[in-house]
Amino acid sequence: MDKKVTVIGAGNVGATLAQRLAEKELCDVALIDTVEGLAQGKALDILQASPVEIHDADIYGSNSLDSSGGSDIIVITAGIARQPGMSRDDLLNTNSEIVSKITNEVKLLSPNAILIIVTNPLDAMCYAALKASGFEKNRVIGMAGALDSARFRTFIAQELGVSMENVTAFVLGGHGDTMVPLPRYSTVAGIPITHLLPGERINSLVERTKNGGAEIVSLLKTGSAYYAPSAATAEMVEAILKDKKKIIPCSAYLEGEYGIRGLFMGVPVKLGSQGIEQIIQIKLSAEEKEMFSKSAVAIKELTSPLM
Ligand code: NAI
Ligand code: 2OP
Repeated sequence: MDKKVTVIGAGNVGATLAQRLAEKELCDVALIDTVEGLAQGKALDILQASPVEIHDADIYGSNSLDSSGGSDIIVITAGIARQPGMSRDDLLNTNSEIVSKITNEVKLLSPNAILIIVTNPLDAMCYAALKASGFEKNRVIGMAGALDSARFRTFIAQELGVSMENVTAFVLGGHGDTMVPLPRYSTVAGIPITHLLPGERINSLVERTKNGGAEIVSLLKTGSAYYAPSAATAEMVEAILKDKKKIIPCSAYLEGEYGIRGLFMGVPVKLGSQGIEQIIQIKLSAEEKEMFSKSAVAIKELTSPLM
């Protein structure tokens, strides 16, 4: 294929993402992990499904970051995942070292690549990657809002008994307990859900969305979600590779937008071949602004040790 995407970290999210990208026939995929044989085994297994799934994407595994050379997009999922009882924030120290070290190496091999960060704690890891890469801010993007919005959309569609296709939703702010689901901007066939559901039902869907990751961790017990996270990441990769100009909430480096400077936060962005091509500024009510500011404080606290 004429596009190459490297996925670093061949664990649950990384391997499932590699499979999705290959099976959508979007690009060739290099899958990299430090564990010997892991990326190679999973890549070979995914490749052997290609005659059945019918695609011609090449997919190969490696233990060396050298295999990432010449990538259009590099997705970093490497790190340790959240365990039951552990907050995303507990992951900060270990994962920032991993993300910075990887970024320092891959930037030299793919100087024009767009980086998509998945590793948690997400907004702080984006900052680590921006700092280590020295890339322009439009080329370092965090995956979180696409997932959190997909979770909110799922719960809205289930609640109203309507097709998922009819539901759009925005979840902004940090990928953490302070995320900001926005019911006013969440719609069913264009109708805001605030016109369709009573306030207490909306609040309950909002709370479930905020706890979306933790709900799955407590069910799985030995890891965190990966089917929806990999689908959300694939949506971002596709928007960039196909230059779709798709509006997706992503973690972006803010320099004054929404009144925030010097932090990554989830906001609606236009994704195309240049990465983040525009940060869309929507009007927030006083209450929404307050939630967004609270989220910024939490992200600042988390990111400060990396500054
Ligand atoms: P996992 O534990 O299944 O996979 C992580 C993989 O990274 C492992 O295979 C490990 O060997 C590898 N790894 C560790 N250090 C590495 C290095 N230096 N180079 C290459 N590979 C390395 O974890 P999972 O479930 O795939 O999650 C990955 C990360 O993504 C976690 O930090 C998790 O919290 C985060 N996550 C973020 C989401 C989001 O919305 N932003 C959603 C889901 C997961
Ligand atoms: C999630 O939201 C763990 O961040 C991950 O599922």
